[in-house]
Amino acid sequence: MKQNSWRSAYYNQNHFVLKLGISILLVGFGFRLLFSHSSNVIPNETDNILITPVVENDLNPVPSDFVESPKEFNQFQSKDDESGECDIFDGEWIPRSGSPAYTNNTCRWIESHQNCMGNGRPDTGYIDWKWSPKACELPRFDAKKFLERMRDKSWAFVGDSITRNHLQSFICLLSQVEDAVDIYHDEAYKNRKWHFPTYNLTVSVVWSPFLAKAEIFEDVNGVSTSEIEVHMDVLDKTWTEQFSTWDYILFSSGKWFIKSAIYYENNSILGCHGCEGKNYTDLGFNIAYQKILKNLFDFIMNSNPKSMIIYRTSTPDHFENGSWSTGGSCDRTVPAKEGEFELGVLNRILREVELPEISRAREWASETGVKLKLLDVTPLSLVRPDGHPGPYRHFYPFAKDKNAKVQYDCLHWCLPGPIDSWNDLLMNLVLNG
Ligand SMILES: *[C@@H]1O[C@H](CO)[C@@H](O)[C@H](O)[C@H]1NC(C)=O
Ligand SMILES: *[C@@H]1O[C@H](CO)[C@@H](O)[C@H](O)[C@H]1NC(C)=O
Ligand SMILES: *[C@@H]1O[C@H](CO)[C@@H](O)[C@H](O)[C@H]1NC(C)=O
Ligand SMILES: *[C@@H]1O[C@H](CO)[C@@H](O)[C@H](O)[C@H]1NC(C)=O
Ligand SMILES: *[C@@H]1O[C@H](CO)[C@@H](O)[C@H](O)[C@H]1NC(C)=O
Ligand SMILES: *[C@@H]1O[C@H](CO)[C@@H](O)[C@H](O)[C@H]1NC(C)=O
Repeated sequence: MKQNSWRSAYYNQNHFVLKLGISILLVGFGFRLLFSHSSNVIPNETDNILITPVVENDLNPVPSDFVESPKEFNQFQSKDDESGECDIFDGEWIPRSGSPAYTNNTCRWIESHQNCMGNGRPDTGYIDWKWSPKACELPRFDAKKFLERMRDKSWAFVGDSITRNHLQSFICLLSQVEDAVDIYHDEAYKNRKWHFPTYNLTVSVVWSPFLAKAEIFEDVNGVSTSEIEVHMDVLDKTWTEQFSTWDYILFSSGKWFIKSAIYYENNSILGCHGCEGKNYTDLGFNIAYQKILKNLFDFIMNSNPKSMIIYRTSTPDHFENGSWSTGGSCDRTVPAKEGEFELGVLNRILREVELPEISRAREWASETGVKLKLLDVTPLSLVRPDGHPGPYRHFYPFAKDKNAKVQYDCLHWCLPGPIDSWNDLLMNLVLNG
């Protein structure tokens, strides 16, 4: 029944998607990369910048055209309780005492842009919350137990820079028991592999922001020199070629679809999204995301994997009073109240694509015995505007000038921070599933 309500909600949104398509056409699409070279661990972080000018409308206040009531939004909650089991995604953040599982001093794998402690973020309250499901207790990630259960296994995190953000939390948590050994990285540190020797566990992160084949044209500063070319019918071989070697695979995507792109099918141009001044049909990015997810799940089901597949839903940013490119900020230090933040238009569209596609795939999976799990972090992330680096994506940003104008990151997450809870949930899904 729940699934039906997602579906009907999905179809009811079609007029809304059309409107959005039109409004997106009206928006300019210059992609600017705003990053500093201060990074001390990871060179040239060009992919961090998922943000496009369109994201301006991606958060409260929702443009009046698109105002949604909280009740409506509830239809998009991905309840997973047909069996009467506890829905671990339905809960609230409650204060937690004690120290974080790791800090900038005990984990050496934190990317400088997400190392909020190391970059001098003065408040620490954002660390002291835990996710508490309404109907059951969610144990904290237990690295020792997890490693024991993952002997001789291989894990892969496939997706974009938020996927990598999540992966770093995972590596940091595990590294409290045994430090990871870096066994592979490419030049840009976008594809990387670690090994935990005592447990013979390997963990890979695979850069594939669209999950499908995509040509991205960016200069050394990350400025787009041409539209991205996305092949909607071809999955990215970066991950498909390794797929059968992994025991646990976590996929996620989303934000890159918002960027302007030309969409290909069968090697010919089918249309585009936000490609001003070009004579292509604007298809809207939801079409591309949907086709690619459908292909992804078809691929998975047709390969009849022994591995466990987890799909993580897309996550909201929390820019206030502006966007990435117009000086938006995020200065909050405590979680928001439920309902205080609504999912912005663009995130809603991503969600309206992914929930029905995942639901359809899970029905299929349950018939064929494929292990497919949903990691639905969207609602619980929506109420954590306090968990982003903000100005502390830079090393002591106000050291020289208290009023310095610095680029805020209200999209990625501080490490440690609320993103660590994603791994509490992940452990629960994997070990109890
Ligand atoms: C971690 O952060 C604290 C607080 O900013 C800082 O004093 C310390 O030097 C940092 N540790 C490392 C290893 O960077
Ligand atoms: C480590 O695990 C891999 C599978 O991930 C397996 O092929 C290999 O034999 C294991 N190595 C040892 C020493 O057990
Ligand atoms: C990385 O950035 C440095 C400047 O900080 C530049 O000299 C170098 O060419 C860049 N490397 C790549 C691969 O973009
Ligand atoms: C792709 O092209 C081939 C031959 O050019 C054709 O047989 C096939 O039906 C096309 N597929 C799609 C999805 O258009
Ligand atoms: C745009 O494409 C249509 C149909 O493909 C064509 O009729 C029209 O002349 C094109 N317009 C321009 C300005 O190229
Ligand atoms: C946004 O702007 C309003 C009015 O200028 C101000 O009261 C509020 O504190 C700002 N919010 C943030 C997060 O900067």
